[in-house]
Order: sequence, then structure tokens, then C-alpha cells
Amino acid sequence: MRRTHYCGNVNTSNVNEQVVLEGWVNRRRDLGGLIFIDLRDREGLVQVVVQPESLAYAEADRVRSEWVVRVRGTVQARPAEQVNARIASGEVEVVAEGLEVLAEAKTPPFPIDAAWRGEEDPAVSEDIRMRYRVVDLRRRALQRNLRLRHEVVAAIYRFLDREGFISVETPFLTRSTPEGARDFLVPSRLQPGQFYALPQSPQLFKQMLMVAGYDRYFQIARCFRDEDLRADRQPDFTQLDLEMSFVDQEDVLELNERLAAYVFEEALGVELPIPFPRMTYAEAMNRYGSDKPDLRFGLEMHDVTERFRGGEFRAFAGAEAVKALVAPAALSRREIEELEAIAKGKGGLAWSRYEGGAFSGGIAKFIPEELARELGVQEGQTALFVAGPWRKSVESLGAVRLELGKRLGLAQGGFKFLWVVDFPLLEWDEENGRWTYMHHPFTSPNLEDLELLERDPGKVRALAYDMVMNGTEVGGGSIRIHRRDLQERMFALLGIGPEEAQEKFGFLLEALSFGAPPHGGIAWGLDRWVANMAGEGSIREVIAFPKNKEGRDPLTEAPSPVAEAQLAELGIALRKSDG
Ligand code: AMO
Repeated sequence: MRRTHYCGNVNTSNVNEQVVLEGWVNRRRDLGGLIFIDLRDREGLVQVVVQPESLAYAEADRVRSEWVVRVRGTVQARPAEQVNARIASGEVEVVAEGLEVLAEAKTPPFPIDAAWRGEEDPAVSEDIRMRYRVVDLRRRALQRNLRLRHEVVAAIYRFLDREGFISVETPFLTRSTPEGARDFLVPSRLQPGQFYALPQSPQLFKQMLMVAGYDRYFQIARCFRDEDLRADRQPDFTQLDLEMSFVDQEDVLELNERLAAYVFEEALGVELPIPFPRMTYAEAMNRYGSDKPDLRFGLEMHDVTERFRGGEFRAFAGAEAVKALVAPAALSRREIEELEAIAKGKGGLAWSRYEGGAFSGGIAKFIPEELARELGVQEGQTALFVAGPWRKSVESLGAVRLELGKRLGLAQGGFKFLWVVDFPLLEWDEENGRWTYMHHPFTSPNLEDLELLERDPGKVRALAYDMVMNGTEVGGGSIRIHRRDLQERMFALLGIGPEEAQEKFGFLLEALSFGAPPHGGIAWGLDRWVANMAGEGSIREVIAFPKNKEGRDPLTEAPSPVAEAQLAELGIALRKSDG
């Protein structure tokens, strides 16, 4: 007896056929002598009917939810009034002639059957779901998400293979690759006291592959970063990492747009308009207060710095930037206070309501008259203002913009992509009092700005770009420095002296001196891509075995203590913590 069909694939074309199905009991009902079993596998459900006189009856009477069974039977059409339009096999049922229990099952810790019947599963806490991930993974939503993930990866392979990319694997046990997070370290037994770092990305290896002449590389690559976790961050996550030789920025953007369009078409049947809009970092920050603007709604910010410059309102008069935003609704005092709290972390929020053709309340008396027209504020709407240092102000009002978008439900459905380009190469690190890289230290400055590199580093633009989808950074990359002298200049600017550069990145500098082609690339955050495509708010919903917010895996209980003997072998002694 071999399985003949997946449960979810049985349909009217199989009527009168003998079938053998294997799967899980989604639900069993006893209706006046007849037993109905919804049998489930990854493709869906089919209803199995067991009549009292059937040989299958005794076993069918015994089975419970989530037991694994094999059923032999004949497919028959359901009478019209019993057709279930919510499931794919809803026009047929299987009349059982034999039923074999392959495995019994404990009562599942939470019900998972409703969604398979086309209804909604009850909400269950994420910790319980992760503790019982095997059961959780049986849920319809997760099965759909992981299938979508597979479709995305399969489409990526097809497209890149056709475009001449070669997939190459790079090591997990390696040296630190700086991407701005802490490293996960792995102690070496053979070299006691020494550590491998797990890669934060394959960045340096892919650059070396370009020097080695592979021309076009890609990898579905695991990356490891020890950083604070959020809904869109995991300590180990997956990138689609790629790199190309003899290209400029536009070549990389163009290829990736076509790749994105292909993936959406193949995996979702959605047509993405390409090319994607391109927006400079400065424009994104000024108009949307974010370097990853959500373009599913407008609500743009206005620059009103000059309108208040030197005026009576002291807080605004001398500010580096004053930004304004018109909320397209009448906001209550309470709502304004809540928005203030969101802005407060970054700056203060001032406001005024436009009523009876004039501003009233809040900072009304300081607002120049012509501003109403300039902002296009309408009767009943509320204008919101933030003043202070430029970056703090735009980011603060940008956070208010996002919150308003969410509260007022402004975002339209669908997918809004854009490229953010012309990032600054460097930013000033207040804490350490020095310049630091915005992307990574291997990103090429825009060659037009090269003479500013030492004179006015903050003004230098990078040949770096981010891919943004619905307000999420789903990818980032750059054209790289391919000349050793420029890379050394860059290290110096970052306060990495020649000795340290040699110690940490000597292998890269050496590679660059063996004839490096101009090259550049990008890495997509694959988890974020799939989560967005699936309409999920957290990447944990598209990862089979994710970590929770504390970085733990409630299923395997990793991380865990290890035996003293294992530590001794590694030459490691634990320090007593103060607590
Ligand atoms: P970057 O650090 O921007 O670039 O990473 C690329 C993309 O990876 C995703 N990402 C993450 N996803 C989940 N969890 C995380 N902890 C996490 N961190 C990053 C984001 C991000 O856009 N080597 C460069 C790429 C290059 O220059 O080619 C790099 O790693 O979506």
C-alpha cells in the first residue's frame, strides 16, 4: 500500500478512483454512526467518511486529533449541498475501506485545525508556540510562509543562474567581518585561547572572489550578529548576498530590480513596476524623516526653518532645522500628547490647530501667517512642529509621521519599493569622538568627493544604496574600494592605524594588491523580504526555528551551560558574575 495522492490534491478528477492517503487527523467527528475524519497533509485537507459497516470503523473510532494514519478508500463526489468551498478538496470525499494508525499523538498544546478548514486559529502566545514549534509548524500560516520562502529562493537561483552568477560558499568559522554589530565567537580547541568569529556577512570573502576573477557571485548566506533583537532582527539570519565585477552603481541597481520583479512574479504572481524610484538620503530624511521611508502614504514633512529664523519664538529662531507636518485630521489633546511622547525621545513636539481660518492653540501666536498656505493646512487639521539639530529634528518628526500613518490607516495596500542612494560615507561618533563608517569600511566614496575626504569628511557621499520595501530596509550594498591606497586612506580616516589595519585586514589589503577589478554588490535581508511578502509583522513568522526576543530558543533551550570538562578542553574558565 503506497500513498497515491496528497490529501489536499484529491479532487473531482479522482472520482471513483481507489486512493491511499497518509497524513494527520485534523479533526474527527462522530455523526450518528458515521465518522468523519478530516485528513491533512502539507497540501491541505480531505474529508474521509467511515461507515459503521466499514472494516476501517474500529480504528476510526479510536483516532484523535493529530494521530498519523493511512487510509485506503474510494473517492466520491459530495452532494451539492455538502460541498465545502473553503477547502480545495471540498467537492469530494473519500469513503474509507481501510484505516491504519501509524502513530498516536498527545493532545496538541494548542489547536491548529481551524485554519486548515478555512477558519481562524485561536491566538496563542508566541512563547508557547516556540516551545512547541513542531506543532506550531503544522499550522497553515507557517506552512504557507515556509513554502513562499522556498519559492523565493528557487526563483533567486533560477534568475541568477541565467544571469551568469556562480554560487560559492564561504566559511562560518572565520575572522571578524565588521558590519556594525558584536561578533559571536567560537573558541578554538586546537589553538587554546584563540577564537573564530562567525561572519556578520560574507563581505570580505565575496570581495576576494571578485579579485580572484569569479566576476559574478551569489550565496544564500547565513549571517551572525550579536545585537539587540527586534521584530525584524535575529541573531542568525539569512542574506541573499551577491557581488559583481566591472560594474558601476547603476548596473547593480538595475540587475537587482529585475531580480526583485522576477521573484515577485514567480513567487506571488505580483507585477512590480521597475525601475524603482531613487531618492537621495538627504531627500528621504528631509521629506520623510527616515532613510527608509514608507511610501505607501504621503504625509510629507515641510522645511520651515527660514520662516522662524530670527523670530520671536526663541526655541525655533536659532534652530538648525525646524520641520512641520500637517496631520490630515483633527487631533485631540490626548492624541497630541501621545505623539509628543513619541517625539520626545528625540526632540520636543509643538503643535497648533487650524480653526476658523487661523491657527489657534499651542504655538499659534508664533506662526507666521503665510505658513498656513505654504503647509496647505485645511480647516480642523493640526500642524505639528519639531525644532533642533537637523538629524534629530527630521528623525523625530519622521517617527511622528509613521505613527500618524499607522493610526489613521493611511498606508495603501501593495508593495512600495525604492532605492535610497547617496548616503554619507561617514558619520560623527559622539561617544568616541571620531568618524565612523555608515555602511562598512570597504564602501567606496563617491569619486567626485575624493578631495573632501580629509578636509571635510562629513560631506563625502558614499557609493552606497539601500533597497527599501514598505518602510523596511530589505537590502543594502555599495561599490567597493578596489585600490589598496584608497582602502588604507579610509582606514586612517576611521582611526585604524597601519598596524591595526594590517593585523585585522591584512589579507584584504594583500588581495587588493594582486589586481582587483572595480566591483560592487548588495545583500538582501531574505527574512525581511519574505516576511513583507507574506504580510507578516515579524521575521520569526518566516523562519522555521527562530530565537525569541531574549535570543533564546525555547524549543532546544539554547543557549545552555556546558560541562566543565568541555570548557577545560577549550582552555576556558568562566568568571563569576557580580550578580
Ligand atoms: P547590511 O548590514 O545592510 O549589509 O545587511 C544587509 C541586509 O540584511 C538584513 N539584516 C538583518 N536581517 C535580520 N536580522 C538581522 N540581525 C539583520 N541585520 C541585517 C537587512 C539588511 O539590509 N555586507 C553588507 C552588504 C553589502 O555591502 O553587499 C551587509 O551585510 O535587510
